[in-house]
Amino acid sequence: MSTDLRLPADFLWGASTAAHQIEGGNTNSDWWALEHGDLGSSHIKEPSGDACDSYHRWREDMDLLAGLGFTDYRFSVEWARVEPAPGEFSAAAIAHYRRMVEGALERGLRPMVTLHHFTCPRWFAARGGWAADDSAELFARYVRAAAPVFQDGVAHVCTINEPNIVAVMAATRSLLEGGGAIPAVGMPLPDAAVTEALARAHRAATAAVKETAPHVRTGWSVANQVYQALPGAEDVAAALRHPHEDVFLEAARRDDWIGVQSYTRNLIGPDGPLPVPEDAERTLTGWEYYPEALGHALRHTAATVPGVPLIVTENGIATDDDARRVAYTTGALAALRSAMEDGVDVRGYFHWSALDNYEWGSYAPTFGLIAVDRRTFARTPKPSAAWLGAFARTRTLPG
Ligand code: NOJ
Repeated sequence: MSTDLRLPADFLWGASTAAHQIEGGNTNSDWWALEHGDLGSSHIKEPSGDACDSYHRWREDMDLLAGLGFTDYRFSVEWARVEPAPGEFSAAAIAHYRRMVEGALERGLRPMVTLHHFTCPRWFAARGGWAADDSAELFARYVRAAAPVFQDGVAHVCTINEPNIVAVMAATRSLLEGGGAIPAVGMPLPDAAVTEALARAHRAATAAVKETAPHVRTGWSVANQVYQALPGAEDVAAALRHPHEDVFLEAARRDDWIGVQSYTRNLIGPDGPLPVPEDAERTLTGWEYYPEALGHALRHTAATVPGVPLIVTENGIATDDDARRVAYTTGALAALRSAMEDGVDVRGYFHWSALDNYEWGSYAPTFGLIAVDRRTFARTPKPSAAWLGAFARTRTLPG
């Protein structure tokens, strides 16, 4: 019988959130505009509105996480709040996020700060977003202005969350604007210029962080798609994997760490991506229930970016059956443990997500360890929260 694996004290054991998905009232962001039809969109079922009201209730969120046993909390700074107009920085917004960092530390939660999690200011989107020639410099200017947030007490900064999905979102938008249709299965191919702009933005932001806070360990988090080829489709899978994922992993070769974000797998046949098999269990996002994906994602990332330590910055499941969340996470942690036992250098695990939140178009897919009442915003930890928090408290991985 195997026993629980003991982890070092500096192993990061936490939960993740993102500003737009929990704060509420993020009116100056491109996503708010999208939700309100200003940019024309079809997949938004409901707007984010007040989200979880965490802009005001963040202390309660942190009290709960610390009380559950977690020692780390990953949250994001909202660029649209920090820089509401080009070159104009909000001292109030910067002070707000600094208070969050201090509030986390006071509660024994080590903050990991993400600087870009899908949203940007409306003005940035209006001048071409990442495709604009100077997008990387503009991002770095914001990062320098936000330095008071992470200068002290923050050990890890994530520059850009899932740049590969940011690139897919940009490709999707230009496809739709050009009158094209998005593929029924799989995702539009990122535009190489946008991919390069994101890599430049990552490098420029990394330099800006190091300039102002040399002790901070920087990295970015890639959405690991786990392309699994059916026999004979290996080349097709590799051809998809490169522009969608590997190019973003390769951009992290000199980083202090790289974030792994895993939820499911994509099966690839000789003609390309395949739909989820009829008989497979699906989660509330429609994705295949496949907790083993985390092991594949870790092993693939370690092989692609050897020598760079890995941190699982997101892993979780959208379900309204909390017992399935425990089952899924048990499977994912077993895959994590087995990868570590095989020598993969993993330094942390953050569950997605701390709270049920705004899943980019709808509140229906619930990923949270903590339920949030959509009317009163009352928080109620689910049994999975205490279950997972106990591993964090004891710094173990289940056997
Ligand atoms: C990855 C994204 O970073 C996060 O914002 C999203 O909610 C989860 N995946 C689930 O889709």
